[in-house]
Amino acid sequence: MSAILTVEGLEAGYVRDLPILRQVRLSVERASLTVIIGPNGAGKSTLIKAIAGLVPVSAGRVVLDGAEITGIRPDQMGALGLAYVPQTDNIFRHLSIRENLSLVLCRLPDRAQRLDELYALFPPLAAKHKDRAGALSGGQRQMLAVAMALANRPRLVLMDEPSAGLSPKIAAEVLDLARSLTGQGVTVLLVEQNVKQALRVADHCWILAEGRNRIDGPAADILSDPVVGEIYLGGKRVGAA
Ligand SMILES: Nc1ncnc2c1ncn2[C@@H]1O[C@H](COP(=O)(O)OP(=O)(O)OP(=O)(O)O)[C@@H](O)[C@H]1O
Ligand SMILES: [Mg+2]
Repeated sequence: MSAILTVEGLEAGYVRDLPILRQVRLSVERASLTVIIGPNGAGKSTLIKAIAGLVPVSAGRVVLDGAEITGIRPDQMGALGLAYVPQTDNIFRHLSIRENLSLVLCRLPDRAQRLDELYALFPPLAAKHKDRAGALSGGQRQMLAVAMALANRPRLVLMDEPSAGLSPKIAAEVLDLARSLTGQGVTVLLVEQNVKQALRVADHCWILAEGRNRIDGPAADILSDPVVGEIYLGGKRVGAA
């Protein structure tokens, strides 16, 4: 196993001299599903935004496949093989499914073929390709957001709470979809609030609290760890390590 992504000593935040993330480290194995969990305000979204170059980094390094990518510009993301799926506003609601996909495919030389491949991967999107994206169900909207992220054949997909706001059944389908991407060699790093569901499909888990690393380990071990229960089920608040 080898890491496709490593983060070392990361300090990042929105306001100068006020870091949200402090000395954060992270390692993501190739073609794995890795989940970041932690209480509200722990810095989970900030961490994946910092990896994607969407939040200023004041110290530390982000390394993708051996190359440092700390503080990339958003327009470099695609060329580096990174895709980022925000929690909200991740599709254009007033455009059709086909128009949404066409937008992200516009730079690909083989865009017609790639569109067909995406429709083959996500048959519900093919069936509704003329429908307005805003009219889709929550699960299908997330499917479209994932399809848009995959359009340019990324190595690493970053997703912020892809199952938020969905029913448990549809949330499980979205997490299964994230899991299935790893079978195609895509690495997935996601933030989740649906902790138990996410841990059942993930390989590895990193827990953040108050902008710092807390615990990490194989997802199966974390699932049976009583400390996770303390953090999430209203027990004793666990301070940062
Ligand atoms: N755009 C912003 N400007 C300033 N501060 C922000 C901004 N976004 C988040 N923060 C602050 O950064 C800290 C970490 O927020 P972040 O959104 O990364 O947490 P999170 O772990 O994703 O939480 P949640 O589970 O609620 O999504 C919080 O204190 C938050 O108030
Ligand atoms: Mg968040």
